[in-house]
Amino acid sequence: MVKTNEYGDVVEIVLSNPPVNALGSAVRKSLLEAVEQAEARQAVKAIVIRGNGKLFSGGADITEFGKPLVDPGLSELINRVEACQKPVVALIHGMALGGGLELALGCHYRLAAAGAKLGLPEVKLGLLPGAGGTQRLPRLIHGETALGMITSGNPISAEQAVEIGLVDEIVTGPDHTGAAVAFARSLDRVRRTADLPTRTTEADIDIFIASNARTFGQLEAPATCAEAVRASMLPLEQGLTEERELFIQLMKSDQSKALRHIFFAERAAGKIKGLPEDVKKRTIARVGVIGAGTMGGGISMNFLSNGIPVTIAETNQEALDRGVNAVRKNYEASAAKGRMSESQVETAMGMLTPTLDFDALGDCDLVIEAVYEDMDLKKQIFARLDTIAKPGAILATNTSLLDVDEIAAATSRPGDVVGMHFFSPANIMKLLEVVRGAKTADDTLATAMDMGRKIGKIAVVAGVCYGFIGNRILLPRREQSLKLLLEGATPAQIDKIHTDFGLPMGPFHITDLAGVDLGWHRDPSRVDNIVDALCAEGRWGQKTGAGFYDYDEKRRPSPSSATQGIIEKFRAEAGITPREISDEEIVVRTLYTMVNEAILILQKGIAQRASDIDVVWVYGYGWPSWRGGPVYWGDQVGFANIDAGLRKYSRELGPEFKIAENLASYEFK
Ligand code: 3HC
Repeated sequence: MVKTNEYGDVVEIVLSNPPVNALGSAVRKSLLEAVEQAEARQAVKAIVIRGNGKLFSGGADITEFGKPLVDPGLSELINRVEACQKPVVALIHGMALGGGLELALGCHYRLAAAGAKLGLPEVKLGLLPGAGGTQRLPRLIHGETALGMITSGNPISAEQAVEIGLVDEIVTGPDHTGAAVAFARSLDRVRRTADLPTRTTEADIDIFIASNARTFGQLEAPATCAEAVRASMLPLEQGLTEERELFIQLMKSDQSKALRHIFFAERAAGKIKGLPEDVKKRTIARVGVIGAGTMGGGISMNFLSNGIPVTIAETNQEALDRGVNAVRKNYEASAAKGRMSESQVETAMGMLTPTLDFDALGDCDLVIEAVYEDMDLKKQIFARLDTIAKPGAILATNTSLLDVDEIAAATSRPGDVVGMHFFSPANIMKLLEVVRGAKTADDTLATAMDMGRKIGKIAVVAGVCYGFIGNRILLPRREQSLKLLLEGATPAQIDKIHTDFGLPMGPFHITDLAGVDLGWHRDPSRVDNIVDALCAEGRWGQKTGAGFYDYDEKRRPSPSSATQGIIEKFRAEAGITPREISDEEIVVRTLYTMVNEAILILQKGIAQRASDIDVVWVYGYGWPSWRGGPVYWGDQVGFANIDAGLRKYSRELGPEFKIAENLASYEFK
């Protein structure tokens, strides 16, 4: 669990707990023993602690959370390290996160390798740094900076860490240990963070909480983190006790349990069932993208930003130029915000080859089709690609709902065909649905998943059905929302239920944003429902300044009397007398129906596991992560209650609505 190396009068203790050197009970025990032994030996002048492998430490062992604590606790260990009578130096490389950084804070000096990242991400698990981080960090660095790091959970670079006084020096050169040993040997005294006064005040904390209230939203952890930092004004021991109490309170909270579920769900999503571990992935050196629209451009950026050249193909020069300019504008906006340098912009753009000649896709290892949702068009493109793409190239469609098997059948190589459904804006959204067709080869699937990871996406495997995982679950919500309008609800009433729940937008906000005309038959004389009527009147959503809502010049929505008129007309035609619709009914008919749909697609094998659905909805649609995704939430509500709710409204849900078999006894695993 720890190894020790001797360099004359300096002992190096190496944390060795792959893959992330988590500070589990065995590591804590052996680290404590190693420090005490080194301290006791007269020949030892100083101690260096570093991590084995690719990082210093990923923090406390999250798998131990919720289980009885095994001594020594992390806080106790860190206090003991700090109390050591001989100088202790943390040598940070790769990453020092959470308890890992807290351990480094308990050391007397900190060195970091160039490129290292340091952070306290506990808040992202609904927690606070519970091993002295909230007490020592504001003693070491400026209070406001400490509050920012602790409440955002975002790591900083080694260089920033030196600037703010968190790290003493950057170690350069290949021999990190040599540099750290020399540094440790030069020290003539211990230097304890605990002896420093805090660098925050009551007023700082109050202002920080008040000014970040909107950002924190319904999350409990960030403000609790700030309260723990407030305790750094107390003597350290008392502050640590207060920190511990707040940590335990958060650890027991529903929000933290849900966020921890998402942490593990995200990691499980990468594991593909029924695929041999050693399946050989194909090499992807160049990517082709068909279609230079918003999606095609955004998809291209993912690869360009990760050093993979892209050939982008269009059918006309104007659309091609527009697409390439949009990519450049996006990169330049990032540069203006300081997220990338001008030379990085040029490097990325230099790797983009625009073309009107589809034959140029012949040397691509992966070609992603990103044209609009039209099955005939997609089939034509894939048939043509079949004659152009080199043998072994992966042919992917970015369809968000169409049948990947039907598209694959247009080629002579369905094993090479896979769905890669990016979410808009494709260069920003984390989710990638990788759609496994009936004939998709194992290595095609494994390569698409791996590629997703390489470009920084969270890739989830989905099976073929209309809408796959994410959009499939939207269908019943959309259908019920429209029915509810006819029965007496308003768009604002329904949307508010969803935004109060923690979703970024309600169903009508989304439709207005995506375009009410999406999937419209484009015949203004054919008006069969509310959506047709809105489209016929040019109410296509935000882009035309009117949809379900009216929009002002800043795209702020307000209830629309025109939409209300359309709703009332259809209501009258259907002979429906409007009634008061309760919030409870809206919750059942829009949110419970989503849970039900999730179980239906699980039963059909469209999703590999329940937690994959949660990942899709958290990363693709903004389901509040602190509610853990729709299936996790369904489990919290109780599947028996979901089932009972749906049965209560079965008449209103309509004869077509199907409740999943055995929903009431569904067990969330
Ligand atoms: N505890 C236990 N297991 C952990 C872990 C941790 N802190 N961090 C990662 N793992 C596991 C993952 O579950 C995964 O397991 P699997 O292979 O069985 O699925 C494996 O380690 C590899 O993890 P990743 O796939 O995430 O590896 P990456 O190389 O992509 O990322 C990382 C490494 C950046 C360290 C990332 O794993 C991470 O962000 N980990 C969590 C960091 C964190 O939140 N630390 C705070 C913990 S809470 C704490 O310290 C409380 C303290 O204040 C008291």
